[in-house]
Amino acid sequence: MGRDVIIACDFSGKQECLEFLDKFTGVKPFVKIGMELFYAAGPEIVREIKARGHKIFLDLKLHDIPNTVMKAMKVLAGLDVDMCNLHAAGTKAMMEGAIKGLTREDGTRPLLLAVTQLTSTSEDRMREELLIDHPIDEVVIKYASNAKEAGLDGVVCSPLEAGKVKAAVGKEFLTVTPGVRFADGDIGDQVRVTTPEKAKEIGSDYIVVGRPVTAAADPVAAYERCVKEFVG
Ligand code: C5P
Repeated sequence: MGRDVIIACDFSGKQECLEFLDKFTGVKPFVKIGMELFYAAGPEIVREIKARGHKIFLDLKLHDIPNTVMKAMKVLAGLDVDMCNLHAAGTKAMMEGAIKGLTREDGTRPLLLAVTQLTSTSEDRMREELLIDHPIDEVVIKYASNAKEAGLDGVVCSPLEAGKVKAAVGKEFLTVTPGVRFADGDIGDQVRVTTPEKAKEIGSDYIVVGRPVTAAADPVAAYERCVKEFVG
């Protein structure tokens, strides 16, 4: 899979999501299903969107003991998703368990990404609440290295961290980056944002774009603009 735009389908139910996807008649965008939609609509929504021909990033951010994560990942591999994720904070043993669970009998598996530190976690909160004294950039790089050593394919990170991750862990290690806004668009509640063009320059492999597409007057045109700016 090459560079691509992933639409964050942050809808609260199946009908709303499918009505949104119905607008895309000519193309089948890569879509992200997060906790809200998955908990509301269940595995059936994954099967239905897959059957419509979309690639799926199932963003459930698993974090539990290695055996539990291994078994849960086995179920997700059976759903035939293309990409899924977990929290690197679960340790290398958990990430190795996840790879084991995800790998199908024929040796194939969905791409597996690690969340390093959520972009909502500040350095102050890390130090005061989690007792992590290292600078956040160092923590992100260490967690990305752990993920690589455990056999994962990449990380979800801020586009502003993607270049540093690539420099430290290797350029083939995937970076999937949310927090993308058009240069002339609203940033909403995101703080550290970048444009699709800039994300391409920095070296993101996939950008995750939600509201700039889902809330646009013409979502198909907004998606096509993202693709044009990011993929070229
Ligand atoms: O609407 P917007 O473009 O802000 O959506 C971004 C998507 O990426 C949302 O689904 C959000 O949960 C997700 N995300 C994020 N920042 C992270 C991790 C995930 O915005 N650090």
